[in-house]
Amino acid sequence: DVQRVKLIAQYKYQKEGKEINFLSEDEEFNLCIKKGTLTNDEKSIMNYHAQLSLDMLSSLPFPKKYKDVLNIAANHHEKLNGKGYPRGLDESQLALEDRIMILADIFEALTSNDRPYKDAKKLSEVFKILSFMAKDGEIDGELLKFFHENSVLLKYAKEELFDYQVDESKLLF
Ligand SMILES: [Fe+2]
Repeated sequence: DVQRVKLIAQYKYQKEGKEINFLSEDEEFNLCIKKGTLTNDEKSIMNYHAQLSLDMLSSLPFPKKYKDVLNIAANHHEKLNGKGYPRGLDESQLALEDRIMILADIFEALTSNDRPYKDAKKLSEVFKILSFMAKDGEIDGELLKFFHENSVLLKYAKEELFDYQVDESKLLF
C-alpha cells in the first residue's frame, strides 16, 4: 500500500497551465503511516503532556501527605517493561499507585463513550486488549486480575458505560 501511495504521489495533473502533484508532501506522508493515524512528530507532541505534568507539578510545593501525586500523575503513560514515556521507568521504579493510575487511564480511554473520534468499546474487547498489554509486560497482570474480579468494575460500568458495552468479559492470560 505504501508503494502504491508513493507511486500515486508521483502523478501530476495540469491546472491553468501549471503542473500539480496528485498528493502534497504532507498527504503522502500521512497516507504512509503504518500504524494508527499519527505521524511521529504528532506522536511526540501528544506524548509531551506527560513530561509537561512532570515539569508543572515539580514546581509545586506539595504537602507531605500528597508528595506522591507528582509521580502518580507524571507516570500515567509509563509501562512496566520500560517502553513508556516520559521517563521510560520500569517495573522496579513504578509503585502500586503508579500502576493503578496506568491501568485506570487506559481502561478509561478504551471504555469512554464521549469521544467523537472513536467508538466506545465493549468490556469484552477492552479486557482482551488489556490482556495483551499484560502479556507484553506493559501493565501489571496481577492488578488487572484484581480489577477484573472486583465489584468496583461493575459499579463503574453501571454508572459510566452504555448498556451495550457491559458484556461478558474474560482475561486471556
Ligand atoms: Fe495522558
